[in-house]
Amino acid sequence: MGKVIGPGSLIVDITGFAPHLPVAGETVKGSKIRFGPGGKGSNQMTAAHRAGAQAVIIGCRGEDVLGQILKDHYATEGMSEEYVAVLPEADTASALIEIDEGDAQNRIIVIFAANDMVKTEAVMAAEKDFIDSDAVLTQFETTTEAVLAAKKLAKKYNKPFILNPAPFVEVPNSLFDGVDYVTPNETEAEFYTGVKVDTIEDCRKAAEKFFALGVKNVVITLGVRGVFFTDGKEEIFVPALKVKAVETTGAGDAFNGGFATAIAEGYPVETALKFATCTAAISVTRLGSSPSMPYRGEILELLEKEFDIKL
Ligand code: RIB
Repeated sequence: MGKVIGPGSLIVDITGFAPHLPVAGETVKGSKIRFGPGGKGSNQMTAAHRAGAQAVIIGCRGEDVLGQILKDHYATEGMSEEYVAVLPEADTASALIEIDEGDAQNRIIVIFAANDMVKTEAVMAAEKDFIDSDAVLTQFETTTEAVLAAKKLAKKYNKPFILNPAPFVEVPNSLFDGVDYVTPNETEAEFYTGVKVDTIEDCRKAAEKFFALGVKNVVITLGVRGVFFTDGKEEIFVPALKVKAVETTGAGDAFNGGFATAIAEGYPVETALKFATCTAAISVTRLGSSPSMPYRGEILELLEKEFDIKL
């Protein structure tokens, strides 16, 4: 079993479903609303946990009614809350998510709240758990200083540092220096590199920009098309699997959690990309973000069926 650690967001997703998304000023009659555990960090760690990793998140939440939803999620999953600070004075973060029932696409407003309190000290307090980790995974829903602290510990203990630069936030270019794997989607890749990413040639150009910032490996997810990888020498493209999507919230998180799990287990990058592709494909066939993450057995079954890989 690989161990994946990193600072990450804990958020409660408040998700409304409607036949189409409203334009500004329009009111649309929706069909249902759901409250559930989410947040890119927590989704990614839940994906890693269910995919077979020991997943350790460093985060923060309030002691309120939304915090209870996250507490229950961690208890049900059997995931460690050792490094989840519970601050009575903080509001648990929330995300307002609108889902178009036609094409399963979403729009999200995130209120970071307690996630903004995940600082350097919180990451350093978990240092002992970086020593025997196998991969460090994080994203941009806590603070830049937490991400930098995680990178510092990953480098100190020579662990692969996987950065999902989502959502887009302004960060110093130096933050990318030394990142082992950066995993933007096409929109994030454009934000950070200035290259509009549509074709594979665009992916190559964006990757060059990341390399210039000091990134070692670039993984660009292209939604329903698939995923592009390059380390500057080798290129890999893995097409997405054709599935009937009901909700795409958390698909990128499923991919990152699956990818980190396979990297933590020491599999070659092509296997990790395919493992992650299967993780994401299953997640979009289910409702919710964290609750939609598949279990290892399901991922292995799809991996063998679609890619003829038996782990
Ligand atoms: O990536 C999906 C996640 O982004 C949702 O769970 C929501 O919490 C937002 O942070």
